[in-house]
Amino acid sequence: MPQATIGVIGGSGLYRMEGMTDLEEVAVETPFGAPSDVITIGKLEGVPVAFLPRHGRGHRLSPTEIPVRANIWALKSLGVQWVISVSAVGSLREHIAPRDLVVPDQLFDRTKSRVNSFFEGGLVVHCTFAEPFCPTLSRLLLETARELGDVRVHEGGTYVCIEGPLFSTKAESLAYRSWGMDIIGMTALPEAKLAREAELCYATLACVTDYDCWHESEESVSVELVVQNLNANVTNAQRILRRLVSKIPADRSTVSCDCSQALASAIITDRAV
Ligand code: ADE
Repeated sequence: MPQATIGVIGGSGLYRMEGMTDLEEVAVETPFGAPSDVITIGKLEGVPVAFLPRHGRGHRLSPTEIPVRANIWALKSLGVQWVISVSAVGSLREHIAPRDLVVPDQLFDRTKSRVNSFFEGGLVVHCTFAEPFCPTLSRLLLETARELGDVRVHEGGTYVCIEGPLFSTKAESLAYRSWGMDIIGMTALPEAKLAREAELCYATLACVTDYDCWHESEESVSVELVVQNLNANVTNAQRILRRLVSKIPADRSTVSCDCSQALASAIITDRAV
């Protein structure tokens, strides 16, 4: 099986990685079933990368249906240590406009029916999650996005993850704003939680497609609006990824985050022992 230390999970609109060479498709089976799609392993600027389209090619899976445990497990089984997650989001702030990019630093969970832990059946694990994104990978992602020079990039911000698949009501959108949320999407959770449990470094490149439905004068979110802005966003995401991969350290022992030891400080109880 080919291996890669860098994994990219592509969101809506990002179903294949432009510029990847030496492609090999691998169908990985996991204890949690099959991932969203086959994983493409190849080289991006000479660096091995594993690419997985989160919704499956052709966007077959709704946010609730994404087999997130299988996705994270499959990437880890291929040697992945760093996961860059690309996802489309709405903006809850005036200064974050459609086609901007955000590297969020916080998450707020409003999902309702998703399995959000690998541990079950008597094994209880409480892992810290106060900082849900890897600071090392987020910093690299931000710096690289800024290098493009022609895209507005926002550092930090809180991503509220809703269950979907419907977009929010106006009352919800206004409530999220009053709670201090900055962007809204449907897929960062449980992905970030499971990546932490799997001791992976995980960061999100959020591509803004709309102002959700709170804005008085801007068009409310619709599938057409998301798709329109997504195309520009996806091109920028690909440009960033091409530059980013060669900056990611091959060896995590040299970096300052403790993502690779997340379970060392967790509380673990096992009924079976
Ligand atoms: N993805 C893109 N725009 C969104 C929005 N407004 N709400 C939830 N998910 C989104």
